[in-house]
Amino acid sequence: MHILITGANGQLGQALQTTLRGETLTLIDLPEVDITTPGTMADIIRQTRPDLVIHCAAYTDVDGCARDPELAHRVNAFGTQNVALACQATDIAMVHVSTNEVFAGTEPGGYEEWRPLSPRNPYGQSKAAAEIHVRALLSRYYIVRTAWLYAPGGRNFIHAILRRAREEGVVRVVTDEVGNPTYAADLAQAIAKLITTGQYGIYHFVNNGACSRWAFANEILRQAGLTGVVNIPILSSAFSRPSSPPPFGALHNRNGKALGITLRPWQEALSDYLQGELLP
Ligand SMILES: NC(=O)c1ccc[n+]([C@@H]2O[C@H](COP(=O)([O-])OP(=O)(O)OC[C@H]3O[C@@H](n4cnc5c(N)ncnc54)[C@H](OP(=O)(O)O)[C@@H]3O)[C@@H](O)[C@H]2O)c1
Repeated sequence: MHILITGANGQLGQALQTTLRGETLTLIDLPEVDITTPGTMADIIRQTRPDLVIHCAAYTDVDGCARDPELAHRVNAFGTQNVALACQATDIAMVHVSTNEVFAGTEPGGYEEWRPLSPRNPYGQSKAAAEIHVRALLSRYYIVRTAWLYAPGGRNFIHAILRRAREEGVVRVVTDEVGNPTYAADLAQAIAKLITTGQYGIYHFVNNGACSRWAFANEILRQAGLTGVVNIPILSSAFSRPSSPPPFGALHNRNGKALGITLRPWQEALSDYLQGELLP
């Protein structure tokens, strides 16, 4: 299969490059290709003629999106609209990668695929608008929502916890944000399976299980052998940040499970990731 990947240099883009190395890949990212430039995506897709587009490009700095909601909308919503229009014009299927932040996170039980969109912050609003564009413009789409993504080399939560633990010997982490830590390599494998099915629709691909940020940090410290580090539980009201994340943002993978596509427990995935990261 010939697959075009947007945001190819990002965490998920790189994991997909590894997982899909047996396929023909066209890789695009900034600075060469800006998905917000009208006509650019249509030109590239017309020239390269992929069978499928996996759209990973996004403005993923959640606090940056809160500071500049117009930029968030331009990249995440308008950029996705451009990608979807280009797929529509050439009759190509599209995978759109979305987020748990399209939900308000007010449901302690978490969210299945069929729940209505209810974003609470500018990042979530821009990603919800992107989903609406995809659904309005295409019939052959997979919307894959994920959460708390991490990958080697990425500036992610695990990195931040390990750095602070080593430098300061103490970390302070919120207990009132719940989600699903998800290893980009596992997500890439799930997407690789999904695109062979032709079962277009909405999917929640996250590593199995949910936890608070505080419990995630605890497990990172435990697995990294940093058990002497103090992990102080705090509430998000204790520090101010531009964006307000969903308090209960856990996703449930019901549709993928029906196809036999499930991701392993998050603790196992973390262990694999840390083995690579902690090698001398
Ligand atoms: N990271 C998470 O925790 C998380 C959670 C849930 C869902 N997601 C979703 O998963 C997808 C992949 O996330 P990720 O963590 O792999 O993101 P990432 O590492 O931030 O990668 C995104 C890529 O998109 C590129 N990009 C940004 N603006 C662009 C533009 N205007 N034109 C073309 N490319 C552009 C970025 O380039 P620069 O680096 O140069 O800006 C970057 O290479 C995104 O749709 C994201 O919303 C992520």
